[in-house]
Amino acid sequence: MTKLLETKLLTIRFGGLCAVDCCDLCIDQGDLYGLIGPNGAGKTTVFNMLTGVYLPSDGTVHFDGKLVNGRNPVKVARLGMSRTFQNIRLFDELSVLENAMTGAHQHSRINLLDSLLRTKRHYREEDRQRDKAYRLLEFMGLEDRAGLPAKALPYGHRRRLEIARALATDPKLLCLDEPAAGMNTGEKAELAALIRRIRDELKVTVLLIEHDMKLVMGICEKIQVLEYGKTIAKGTPVEIQSDPRVIEAYLGGG
Ligand SMILES: Nc1ncnc2c1ncn2[C@@H]1O[C@H](COP(=O)(O)OP(=O)(O)OP(=O)(O)O)[C@@H](O)[C@H]1O
Ligand SMILES: [Mg+2]
Repeated sequence: MTKLLETKLLTIRFGGLCAVDCCDLCIDQGDLYGLIGPNGAGKTTVFNMLTGVYLPSDGTVHFDGKLVNGRNPVKVARLGMSRTFQNIRLFDELSVLENAMTGAHQHSRINLLDSLLRTKRHYREEDRQRDKAYRLLEFMGLEDRAGLPAKALPYGHRRRLEIARALATDPKLLCLDEPAAGMNTGEKAELAALIRRIRDELKVTVLLIEHDMKLVMGICEKIQVLEYGKTIAKGTPVEIQSDPRVIEAYLGGG
């Protein structure tokens, strides 16, 4: 097993609140890893520290063998970590395809001069990005809507588009923050199958935050549970479901 992401004693304080407290995560290449916990447990804050949005108060983040805490989000993304957001962030007026292409731009092989002068290289690169974005739309089942403005997509499809855009950066690790939020049962089942295919066919390691227990337990092999910023359990779905602390956290926390 090759370690892809490792955090040690990862901690962040906001004033008097310790939102994440000594979080140790260890994710191997090829994992489909679940991060769960009641509202306010610190899950999104962990993502924000991993991806360089927040600077940890303490602790370390190693990704692909490199220390990444303190690097800005663009640099972290270039190293191969990509994410989606709990509150969908798309360019509403751009087309579905253009939205997916904004992910591919990150690995652009052209420089500013090529773009300004509209060189052949510029057009070749744009074609390459368009093809790649289109293939990912196909993968996510959105190719029929490629030309529509993103704002015309129904909610579940907007979430899928965010994933396509994140994949267009060629990530080694894809961090999904509640990708099934707001979806109906059928959409959730389709999404679960897609997430599994992202790992199995595209060979992208996945870190998943999700409240839907059926989805998490159905596709994750390893799960870590946070409560009030602290890890209260780690294990397989079977172990997690029978863990008294986890049951208490969910029943107590609502
Ligand atoms: N920038 C910030 N400033 C102050 N407090 C913050 C900040 N970001 C997060 N918090 C607090 O940290 C705690 C954890 O929040 P976080 O959003 O990580 O929870 P979560 O587990 O993602 O919850 P949910 O399931 O509701 O999305 C909460 O108490 C939240 O109010
Ligand atoms: Mg959250």
